[in-house]
Amino acid sequence: MGMRSNYVNNMIRERCEELQLSDEQLREIMKRLLDNIERGLARDTHAASIVKCFVTYVQDLPNGTERGKFMALDLGGTNFRVLLIELGENMHFDMKSKIFAIPQHIMVGPGKQLFDHIADCLGAFMKEHHIEHECLPLGFTFSFPCVQKGLTKGLLVRWTKGFDCEGVIGQDVVELLEQAISHRNEVTIDVTAILNDTTGTLMSCAWKKHDCRIGLIVGTGSNACYVEKVENAQLFDGDRSKPYVLINTEWGAFGDDGALDFVRTEFDRDIDNNSINPGKQLHEKMISGMYMGELVRLVLVKMTNDKLLFNGQGSDLLFKRGNFFTKYVSEIESDKKGTYASCRQVLEELGLGHATDQDCANVRYVCQVVSTRAAHLASAAVATLINKIQEESVTVGIDGSVYRYHPHFHNLMMDKIATLVTPGLKFDIMLSEDGSGRGAALVAAVAARGHAKTA
Ligand code: BGC
Repeated sequence: MGMRSNYVNNMIRERCEELQLSDEQLREIMKRLLDNIERGLARDTHAASIVKCFVTYVQDLPNGTERGKFMALDLGGTNFRVLLIELGENMHFDMKSKIFAIPQHIMVGPGKQLFDHIADCLGAFMKEHHIEHECLPLGFTFSFPCVQKGLTKGLLVRWTKGFDCEGVIGQDVVELLEQAISHRNEVTIDVTAILNDTTGTLMSCAWKKHDCRIGLIVGTGSNACYVEKVENAQLFDGDRSKPYVLINTEWGAFGDDGALDFVRTEFDRDIDNNSINPGKQLHEKMISGMYMGELVRLVLVKMTNDKLLFNGQGSDLLFKRGNFFTKYVSEIESDKKGTYASCRQVLEELGLGHATDQDCANVRYVCQVVSTRAAHLASAAVATLINKIQEESVTVGIDGSVYRYHPHFHNLMMDKIATLVTPGLKFDIMLSEDGSGRGAALVAAVAARGHAKTA
């Protein structure tokens, strides 16, 4: 497995076996996911399908001629951001942005409060940049599952990733945003598109790489969108004379009907039971950054209680939920072979200064097993799409904190996708810079290029 270290305790290895997915298991997962995707796309099975495959109304990829000044809002990752983007001649691109915090009480408070907060931040940003009197087109990157009824209309289906604001499910979030902005009566904007972060990622990557067909996020949450033939998107009621439409798979929900139970472990069940959305987003909970650190912590706690780690002596910090941050996984795995500087620092922070070198090796092993499983699950899902698209060569645009900061995620994915794709199909994975900013502007721009509002 390439992750062998002489130090890693055999008992620990054994306990971690169920967290390692064989290629055979991954291929079974691919089969099930493909079936889910096909059912999401088809008229008769869509309603009952777990993986929804929402149509996006984005049908054109950027061609480099997009120009103009745009605003964008990015809600749904680690940060909320307001952006001002200029697309100029010769692919010149300029962007100013500001991060605003979304306090916890707003993440789970009334929806009105959330949209008022967003409108406040937007107003403050526009004043700061002296554009409060301009009415700019705005792309709203809203990274939650939405049924789109047009390019500027999206009804929220469910909250994910720690958000749970009352009164928004079933509502058009563009309308909620517009109401909050007009209520504030300080700035005016023209929402020209609502998009998912995966769509922004795909568009942003396609701007440079013309064979980009997949946009992937492995960050706080996990999801992908891809370019599908209009003839396969049975529910698409937009322009059916164009050949393609982007599909937001919402594969984070894969497994919510039990399809992944054959590989889920007691740790996955624990994560789910203690989440704010039990039974939901089960695939996402095995992959994304919101849960990865906690998964590692649960494994470490179990092994400590079984006296396989830290001489059986844990710490209050280790035993407390949410205390093992996902960034720790990246840090610990960044240590050079045989050295444990970051690992020790993390363990100190957790009150585990008494860890031995052997403990450090074991802790790192657990991190590797959990992050590798996430990378392999993401790879299986990407390979499913590549095999479905069946083009000779496909670039996958990817973004998200886990992919960006984990030292081996990219290589793990390259290797595993290569194993799982249909022989002969070429692929590449590329960090897609700023899907939520540039991508949102490109969706707004491409929309302006065609017919304006589709709603
Ligand atoms: C959401 C998706 C989003 C993904 C990545 C998931 O929880 O449902 O819409 O694309 O997170 O941000």
